Amino acid sequence: MALARSGATVERDRLRASFDGVWGDLAGVGRDPRSGGYDRFSWTGVDLGLREWFVAEATRRGLEVEVDRNGNQWAWWGAPADGAVVTGSHLDSVPGGGAFDGPLGVVSALLAVDALRASGLAPERPLAVVNFVEEEGARFGLACLGSRLMTGAVDAGHALSLTDDDGTSLADAMSAAGHAPEHVGLDEAALARIGVFVELHVEQGVHLTLGEESVGVASAILPHGRWHFCFEGEGNHAGTTRLVDRHDPMLPFAEAVGAARRLADEAQAVTTFGRVRVDPNGTNAIPSRVDAWLDARGADEVGIVRLVDDLRRVAEEAAAGHGVRLTVTNDSFTPVVEFDASLSDRLRSSLGAASIAAPTLPTAAGHDAGILAARVPTAMLFVRNPTGISHSPHEHADASDCVDGVEALTVVLRDLLTESLEVVSDRGVPAEAAR
Ligand code: GLV
Ligand code: MN
Ligand code: MN
Repeated sequence: MALARSGATVERDRLRASFDGVWGDLAGVGRDPRSGGYDRFSWTGVDLGLREWFVAEATRRGLEVEVDRNGNQWAWWGAPADGAVVTGSHLDSVPGGGAFDGPLGVVSALLAVDALRASGLAPERPLAVVNFVEEEGARFGLACLGSRLMTGAVDAGHALSLTDDDGTSLADAMSAAGHAPEHVGLDEAALARIGVFVELHVEQGVHLTLGEESVGVASAILPHGRWHFCFEGEGNHAGTTRLVDRHDPMLPFAEAVGAARRLADEAQAVTTFGRVRVDPNGTNAIPSRVDAWLDARGADEVGIVRLVDDLRRVAEEAAAGHGVRLTVTNDSFTPVVEFDASLSDRLRSSLGAASIAAPTLPTAAGHDAGILAARVPTAMLFVRNPTGISHSPHEHADASDCVDGVEALTVVLRDLLTESLEVVSDRGVPAEAAR
């Protein structure tokens, strides 16, 4: 005789089946079958496919979809209004990225809505699931593009003039995808609609794996930024040009790469030159130009700025020694983000009341939640990543941990949808608006 299964087990199995189904729908989108990595870049055909997927999932649930001035998609449960509970993440990826960074937050949000509705919840305020445009900055170079535009953290004209590697501007890419670029920029109306924002994300480290729990609450995002180093030399023949006659930009660049590592060690920071463009990129040609992008992060904001200044000096000296011109531009800098303490406390206490232990952890990864935190009460949940690997095809989270994440998000949203938001209104949104 089969043992009777508890209601909770049946519910969990149902959630696991739903997760597997929705996750499976996304698995092939933008995936390179050879590496298994994802190329999901904003406003490309792959991205438009993901945006259609988002609309289809929302529509299937009877959620109303809106696209804001900056192209971010919103799926509303309840009539759109100020002071809503907002959750979600992004669907784009780094080049050759993993499946979880971004999509896990969007999928979990949709499944949490299903769970709340199935439980018969009568929300006190609307909920929106959001898909932010180009969180990774993989196409136009600026991370958290959609949320930076929305909060006015980047000038709209500057953002629209950014170009991808083919020289296509953001303005043209948006237009070609059917989104009018004229209205891009600070969107106070969209911001007013966010009473609180909670982003669920795969952990991009091993903090949770080193403990026992599958879900954690974020405390802070460490300061981080991107700098463009442009070395301009003189292209010439690789065989016939004497070494003394060369102005090879690759050489000072190589010195900068070594110095970045050494300075990071000294400053207890991390630095990465992960993207390089070489012109003309021929085996038998001395390059005329090397463009390289530095990513620098660490616990100490002043320390990072000093590190980059020191690196610039080393690179300038090396460039001068080779008769090469160097220009360094700061593309973005995000100071430390402390997530809203009262909202994070509230997440921990609603999880605790549901017997979900959730440790608190900081991260060195950037998120749209970090940008929004300047304007609205914001918090994050992390889901365990057994290896900590991220921004790689090997990024992983076990499906059962993902289901734990959906359950945790459901608990948190239930509380935020049914109890007063006043205690979490200490940043940006006045108490009345947050109701
Ligand atoms: C985004 O994931 C970043 O940390 O760069
Ligand atoms: Mn990422
Ligand atoms: Mn992400």
